[in-house]
Amino acid sequence: MGETLDRLPLPPGPNWTNIGAALRASPPTYLLNLFKKYGEIARFKGAFTVYAINNPDCVKNILTSAWPQYSKNTIDYKVISAVFGNGLVTSDGDDWARQRRIMQPVFSSRSVNSFDNVINKTTSALADNWSKQSTHDLIWLDRDMSKITFQVVSRTLFGTNIDHVSDEMIDILDLLNIHPMRLSALLRLFPWIPSPSNKRFLRANRRLDEIVYTLIEEHQLPGACQENIVGRLLAAKDDDSKASLTAEQIRDEVVTLMLAGHETSAVSLTWTFYLLSQHPEIEERLCEELESKLNGAPATSSDLAELSYLKQVVQESLRLYPAVWGVSRRSLDEAILGGYRIPKNSYIAITPYVLHRDPNSWPEPEKFDPGRFSPEQIKSRHSYSYLPFGAGPRTCIGAGMAMLEIQLILAQLLQKFKVIPITDQQIEVEAAVTLKPRHGLKVRLEPRIK
Ligand code: HEM
Repeated sequence: MGETLDRLPLPPGPNWTNIGAALRASPPTYLLNLFKKYGEIARFKGAFTVYAINNPDCVKNILTSAWPQYSKNTIDYKVISAVFGNGLVTSDGDDWARQRRIMQPVFSSRSVNSFDNVINKTTSALADNWSKQSTHDLIWLDRDMSKITFQVVSRTLFGTNIDHVSDEMIDILDLLNIHPMRLSALLRLFPWIPSPSNKRFLRANRRLDEIVYTLIEEHQLPGACQENIVGRLLAAKDDDSKASLTAEQIRDEVVTLMLAGHETSAVSLTWTFYLLSQHPEIEERLCEELESKLNGAPATSSDLAELSYLKQVVQESLRLYPAVWGVSRRSLDEAILGGYRIPKNSYIAITPYVLHRDPNSWPEPEKFDPGRFSPEQIKSRHSYSYLPFGAGPRTCIGAGMAMLEIQLILAQLLQKFKVIPITDQQIEVEAAVTLKPRHGLKVRLEPRIK
C-alpha cells in the first residue's frame, strides 16, 4: 500500500502562495480561484500546505465514510477554541461523543419544533419595535438579526431571558467572531504576548465568562427549570467515573452554543433579506405564498410543510452565502483522494462556499434561483454538492433549529414589512468565522399595506 501511494501524484497547485495576502484579500475568493484554475482537488503552500478538497465524493469520504481518519485538530479549530473551549464544535474523540449524546435530545425534531412559540413571540416583539419606526428611519438589519437570534438561543436552549445583557453579549460575541480570522489571532496561540488585539480579546472573554457562569449558577438554584441544555449538562454524569461535568466544561458548551447558534442564523437571515431585496420577482412570489397560506398570521412549525417556496428561498440563500463558509480537518493517516496522494497530518480544507459554486452542480452559480431546490432538481444533484450544515457524524447539531428559526422569522417579518437596503452603502462579504456583510446592512422599512 505504502509503495503504491508513493507513486501517486500530489494534487496540483501553485508552488508558493503569499498566504498573508490571500487571507487579507478573502480566503473563500482565493479558494474559489484555486478551484477554477486547478480543479476539485488542489494544494497550495503558505506557512503550511493546504489540501483544498471540493469533489463531492471525496468530501463524502472525509466527512462521513472515513470520518474517524480526519480530526478537528487543526490550527483554526485551535484558535477558535480560545473562546469555545473544549465544547461540542471543537472537541474530538470520546469527549465529543459524550457531549453529543448529552445534547442530542434537545435538538430532536420534536423538541425543536416546540420552539416555534418562543421564536414567534421573540419575532413579534421585534416587529412591534419596527412598527414604531418611520419609513425614513435607518435600521441596522444585521444587528437586529443578531439580537433576535441571540434571544432565541438563550430562551429556548438555556431557558433564560438574558435580554438585559444581549447588547453587551452581541458586541462581545461579534469581537470574538472576527478576532479568530485575523492574522493577529494567531497570537492567541501565544496568549501571554500583550498585543492590543490579545488584550481586547482577553477582556471580552473574561466578561463572557462572568455572564455565563452567572447563568449556570442560576440554574443550580432550587426550583430552576431543568428542561433545557444547562439543566441536562448539570445532571449529566461521566459514563465511567459517574462524576458530574465541571463548571468549566458546562461553560464551554454554553459558550459554544451561544456562538455557533446565533451568529450563523443571524447572518443567514441578513443575507436572505438582502437577496430578496435585489430580486423583487422572487420576493413577490414568496410574499404571495405567505399571504395565501398564513393570511398575516405567524407560521407554526407544522405550517412549514405548506410553505415550500419559503424553504427553497432559504436553501438558495444558504448556497450563495453559507454562514460557515469553510471547515477544516487533519488527516490522521496517508490517504488517496480523487487519485491523488494526501500525506498523513495534512491540513484539509472543505469549502461550502466553493462547492456551492461548482458549475457542474450549479449552472450559472452566482445567480440567485430558489428553483434549484425543487424536489426534481435536488434529486438530480450529488447530495454532497450542498453542505451548508456540513455532513456525517459532525454535522451541525442545530441545523433543524436554524432552518425553523430562519423560516419563522422571515415568514412573520416579510408579511409585515418590506425591507429596503439603502442604496449608498457598500456590500462586501467578510469571511470571519461566519460569512458576514463587512459593513453591516442598513435598511429602511415599509409596512406592507393590508
Ligand atoms: C444557518 C445556521 C447554521 C449554519 C450554516 C451552521 C453550520 C454548521 C456547520 C457547517 C457545522 C459543521 C462544522 C464541521 O464539520 O467542522 C456545524 C456544526 C455545529 N453547529 Fe451549526 N450551523 C448553524 C446553526 C447552528 C445552530 C442554531 C446551532 C445550535 C444552537 C449550531 C450548533 C452547532 C454545533 C454544536 C456544531 C458542532 C457539532 C458537532 O461537531 O457535533 N449551529 N454548524
